[in-house]
Amino acid sequence: MDNEAFWDNRAYLRNNARKLNDPVILDFKIWINSFKKPVSILDVGCGNGILSQTICKHNDYTGIDISKKNISLATEIFYEERFKWISGDYLYYDFKMLKYDILVFSYSIFCMDKIASVLGKSRLLLKNEGHLVLYTAVDDPEFRRTFYFPQFYGYKALFSAICTTDIIGLLKEHQFNITSINVLKTKKTHIMRIIANPISR
Ligand SMILES: C[S@@+](CC[C@H](N)C(=O)[O-])C[C@H]1O[C@@H](n2cnc3c(N)ncnc32)[C@H](O)[C@@H]1O
Repeated sequence: MDNEAFWDNRAYLRNNARKLNDPVILDFKIWINSFKKPVSILDVGCGNGILSQTICKHNDYTGIDISKKNISLATEIFYEERFKWISGDYLYYDFKMLKYDILVFSYSIFCMDKIASVLGKSRLLLKNEGHLVLYTAVDDPEFRRTFYFPQFYGYKALFSAICTTDIIGLLKEHQFNITSINVLKTKKTHIMRIIANPISR
């Protein structure tokens, strides 16, 4: 099964999609609304597009997802003329010369095969003053393990993980500075938020 079919079949749809009161959504909403000037946001692996609901009117929002089902659901539920939705694989989609102020991966980078290439592409897609925001679950009490890869995720085996220090190393290798690492503790889980900025060339 290829990745697109996998995510279509996984039906990340109505019932298990993130809701407005989800801690990730609330956290992102506060953070994104702290920007005084208008920003452009690319939501990578946007699922049903719920993050679009946190964005003020003066900001641009684009959601991309490999699953056509997710994108048609997003367009159906959250249609607004100012939103742009892309159905495609982030790694291979041609954004032409576009650059964004903010790239957000909410529980999605660990679903992608080639994390190093994803970070390399993200560096190129971000403006020099831009921000990369990664949300993921952390599964051990000291927050050492985080990103799951799809070859271990769901359809091939159950769980494996990459150490937080490895993801930080990869970010540095791809010309990012780590600005902050926060852990949001909820009743059910711990959520890690990493914010990184491109190192200017
Ligand atoms: C766990 S879901 C998270 C969805 C949403 N961001 C959220 O926080 O609820 C991961 C999403 O990443 C998408 N995805 C996986 N690989 C992708 C790729 N290569 N390009 C774009 N989207 C991808 C999946 O279709 C899925 O919607």
